[in-house]
Amino acid sequence: MSDKHDAGGVPTTGHVWDDDLGDFTNQPPKWWMLGLTASAIWCVVYFLYYPSIPVSNAQGYFKGIGGWTAITEMEADKSVVDEVRGKYEAKLKDMTPAAILADGELTEYVTRSGKVLFGDNCAACHGTNGVGTVDKQGLFAPILNDDDWLYGGKIEDIHASITGGRQAVMTPHKDVLSAAEIDTLANAVAAGKPTSTPLFTEKGCTACHGADGKGMQAMGSANLTDSVWRFDGSVEGIKYTIANGVNVGPGSRIAVMPSFQAAGKLSDAEMKKLAVYVYKFGGGKN
Ligand code: HEC
Ligand code: HEC
Repeated sequence: MSDKHDAGGVPTTGHVWDDDLGDFTNQPPKWWMLGLTASAIWCVVYFLYYPSIPVSNAQGYFKGIGGWTAITEMEADKSVVDEVRGKYEAKLKDMTPAAILADGELTEYVTRSGKVLFGDNCAACHGTNGVGTVDKQGLFAPILNDDDWLYGGKIEDIHASITGGRQAVMTPHKDVLSAAEIDTLANAVAAGKPTSTPLFTEKGCTACHGADGKGMQAMGSANLTDSVWRFDGSVEGIKYTIANGVNVGPGSRIAVMPSFQAAGKLSDAEMKKLAVYVYKFGGGKN
């Protein structure tokens, strides 16, 4: 072996390649060895403390000497949450939506869970945060995130919409009105002045939309003077609504709000929470 393989007395393994590369037997640094040993010990402790190895016993795995399970940890966390929630849930059980609304702390609690409930049960039709959803007929489910209410914006009205559902009916007029009459009415409605034509009263539109054309909340008939459109608001679209009606079968405009009480999908408390949540969007105005 030549001198160039001598590194200050460190012995080599005797392996030499290309007559140039030697293989020294240097020890790894002490900090590195300590790290290696510590992590090996850590592995064994961890392995024994926590559930680890699959074995052929009834549980199918070694349970670990610490007795830890993900379920008990989750349940412990949950009981902390339940304790906080329980206080509020017990309180709102016997309260009306209006009473909840009058209690600032409860309202805050309820609005938070209302947001989740709304996302799960309502957003598919009413859009995220109640912005409404539009299909080719126009606005399929009304905007809730405003202060314009078909059925009234009092907390009781909103609660009733959710529990009982809503399904406004407008009779079709294609067999009782001529094309010219439909055209005249549609143009008057499109201009926001339904009463500008005597036909509006003569043909019985006032029976449902009111003498002033502003709608009646008892039957969810739309306000025809505010340029807020449920369905297609163009003259053609309005003609279609007048001719074919609403919720009277195939060919008519369809807008059905399901009853969440009948569906049994939501508890009483959940429907109250949603009423308060939706009210907070813009309830109370009309
Ligand atoms: C299948 C679609 C659909 C789902 C799901 C749905 N809605 Fe509706 N909702 C409608 C339609 C359509 C209307 C309008 C009914 C009409 O025009 O007669 C409506 C009307 C309403 C109204 C009355 C609005 C007004 O202007 O007076 C409220 C309040 C309401 N929905 C709240 C909710 C809440 C809260 C949920 C979830 C728990 C929900 N809706 C789930 C379709 C839906
Ligand atoms: C039987 C009651 C009834 C009669 C009669 C009736 N309507 Fe309606 N109309 C309604 C209801 C209820 C709605 C709202 C439906 C909804 O939003 O789900 C409506 C909606 C409309 C709309 C759609 C408004 C929008 O925002 O898109 C127009 C337009 C309309 N009616 C015009 C008329 C005209 C014009 C007449 C007279 C020829 C008339 N209606 C007669 C009940 C009636």
